[in-house]
Amino acid sequence: MRQLISFACLILTIICAACSGSTNASGDALPVGDASRGAALFTQSINGAPACNSCHTLDGSTLVGPSFKGYAALAPTYVEGMSAVDYTHNSITKPASYVVSGFANLMYGQYAQKLTSQQIADLIAYLLTL
Ligand code: HEC
Repeated sequence: MRQLISFACLILTIICAACSGSTNASGDALPVGDASRGAALFTQSINGAPACNSCHTLDGSTLVGPSFKGYAALAPTYVEGMSAVDYTHNSITKPASYVVSGFANLMYGQYAQKLTSQQIADLIAYLLTL
């Protein structure tokens, strides 16, 4: 029995490693995003996770996080050598890895688990139209 449990743990560890590999993949490996679906997702609680617009506005005003006014032009400027898609993907799935200057690390941290890669791709496509 004990051996069975450790075997099951081993399998789970391998599966989890594979999952995190795919969510950590660069934006290039994402499915094609749909900006209009992303716009709808932006204002919805998804799979128990808070809606993006509970912390982010589109009009330049600051809630908990930065506004996305003018985001498409700003996104490629934050981290040298990181494309806008990769930066946005990273910001959604690993918000603590780069914290925008002037803000605290307060972004909800479970989107990588709660959103599908299609939903993440849709949100990225939407943000990069702003
Ligand atoms: C609980 C509040 C909160 C929620 C909910 C939230 N965010 Fe954030 N977000 C933040 C904060 C605070 C920052 C700035 C700190 C940082 O960079 O992690 C941020 C930063 C970002 C950035 C980088 C912004 C920039 O100007 O460089 C992106 C992109 C982003 N969030 C996308 C999203 C998306 C998409 C959602 C919904 C799926 C979302 N956030 C939900 C609080 C939140």
